[in-house]
Amino acid sequence: MIRKLGWGVMSTANIGQVAVIPAIQKSKFGTVEVLASRDIEKARQVAQALGIGRVVGSYEALLKDPDVDAVYIPLPNTMHAEWTIRAAEAGKAVLCEKPLATSAEDVAKQIEACAKHGVSLMEAFMYRFHPQTRRVRELITSGAIGQVKEVRAHLSVNIMRTFDRSNIRYADRLGGGALLDMGCYTVNICRMIFGREPGRVIGRLQIDPNLRVDTSAAGILEFDGGIGMITCWFGADGQGAYTIVGTEGTIEVPRGIILGLGTRVPEGLIVVMDADGKRREEIFEPGDHYRDMVDAFSGALLNGQPVPLSPEDSLKNMKVLEALARSSAKDSSESV
Ligand SMILES: NC(=O)c1ccc[n+]([C@@H]2O[C@H](COP(=O)([O-])OP(=O)(O)OC[C@H]3O[C@@H](n4cnc5c(N)ncnc54)[C@H](OP(=O)(O)O)[C@@H]3O)[C@@H](O)[C@H]2O)c1
Repeated sequence: MIRKLGWGVMSTANIGQVAVIPAIQKSKFGTVEVLASRDIEKARQVAQALGIGRVVGSYEALLKDPDVDAVYIPLPNTMHAEWTIRAAEAGKAVLCEKPLATSAEDVAKQIEACAKHGVSLMEAFMYRFHPQTRRVRELITSGAIGQVKEVRAHLSVNIMRTFDRSNIRYADRLGGGALLDMGCYTVNICRMIFGREPGRVIGRLQIDPNLRVDTSAAGILEFDGGIGMITCWFGADGQGAYTIVGTEGTIEVPRGIILGLGTRVPEGLIVVMDADGKRREEIFEPGDHYRDMVDAFSGALLNGQPVPLSPEDSLKNMKVLEALARSSAKDSSESV
């Protein structure tokens, strides 16, 4: 019989309800034992709707629960570090939502706490577990488009179309803003494809004067021998695409980041164009990259292996995000 991890879920966050809790429930190696919320009545309602057996009325209580081996943390971004560290102190492994924290200093503290208490930590970058992402990496390593020169990564979700002021993404004190919320993916894609770190970056955040968070952000990432370009938006149509330009061809991944949720998962698609302009498509069956992420994380834990996405890599990602924000704050732009 396969041993299963007992999971505790920290909050009734939307992403947990629509994607990650069902993914744990479908996972080969996990069960959701307990759901925690600041509001026990809300926890009861969600637990009943999703078929979770037990609820607790605080995150502290979740960490004291002996049936919980691992916690999933989908809290507002500024709370990720504190609750990861508290979970580590309680001996629980942590799957934490992106971005892992709101500063590199905090990510370093999360890594230190998890190492000290001997627990695993992983940032929930679900797109990394989609088969099309694996295939893109294979194509790059096999030299299918030669040497990578440019990566352009874009993510937008028009959350401003039906504006909800209470959305955590608009709250500076909760780590809101498009760069942290969406730029974390686009930066991750550039670093994953180049397989190294950018030496310098230029960032441009457009801060909404009323919300006081960036509702869009753009960046140029200078890699040794290549350029990454990122854009992200709260107020533009939902797209999550990236393009890789190599010396011998181009790869387009039109649904590289927004891969759908629950029953609305579209098929994956990679378009490869060679230097002669020949175009071919690779299509991937709709799967469940959230479940695959949970399986990969849980499988690693049960087998005593390192988790598939290292928190040290998340630290590097956060350093780039911070550098983009610092560059923007310095405002070295020229008037036209
Ligand atoms: N991987 C993905 O595909 C994906 C997609 C969306 C979001 N995310 C990430 O997941 C996290 C949650 O995002 P979400 O959109 O699901 O958030 P959400 O629906 O607003 O949920 C956040 C939860 O945090 C808890 N919370 C504790 N203190 C809070 C406070 N002061 N203000 C508001 N909520 C508070 C609340 O739960 P209780 O009241 O039950 O305690 C709330 O339900 C974020 O880090 C985000 O970046 C990831």
